[in-house]
Amino acid sequence: MNKETLKKNLREIPDFPIPGILFYDVTTLFKNAECLQGMIDELYEMYKDKGITKVVGIESRGFILGGALAARLGAGFIMARKPGKLPAEVLEETYAKEYGTDTIQIHKDAINENDIVLLHDDLLATGGTMAAACRLMGKFGVKKSYVNFVVELKNLNGRQAFTSDVDITTLLQL
Ligand code: PRP
Ligand code: MG
Repeated sequence: MNKETLKKNLREIPDFPIPGILFYDVTTLFKNAECLQGMIDELYEMYKDKGITKVVGIESRGFILGGALAARLGAGFIMARKPGKLPAEVLEETYAKEYGTDTIQIHKDAINENDIVLLHDDLLATGGTMAAACRLMGKFGVKKSYVNFVVELKNLNGRQAFTSDVDITTLLQL
């Protein structure tokens, strides 16, 4: 997928959700048929030979491409959700935010130790959310997982949140 096309179609919204924050809006990437198909095609090429059995999408913006990619790869799709949303028994991981903490949960029977997992989300900012998802994979006994984001905000150094063994790719670095 051409990076300039991606960049051109990623909407930037100043002062959202609070003054001083420049918000990168992926809805305009998903809206554009060429970008949507191009991103799925590129991700498929990157991961088709990795033996991925489950794609985990991070609520909520990680669900869109995560689901499409799982179907394309012939893998299952798993939702990593915010607390209180999943109805059955869960495993969870809590992580620090700028103010306070947050938690993500996955159904306990969604993943097993033999799965090869691709964790996907739209945006790598501080990395706190995805690093928690990676730790959560450890609780499932997963031995091999991959991590992908659509957009990486390089100046936030989100990669530092991960241990060096984590294999991270991003489609667009800003
Ligand atoms: C945003 C974004 C990532 C996460 C990145 O989601 O979609 O999931 O924050 O931040 P981090 O790298 O600092 O952890 P948000 O929690 O705003 O929720 P949403 O996807 O449901 O809009
Ligand atoms: Mg999100």
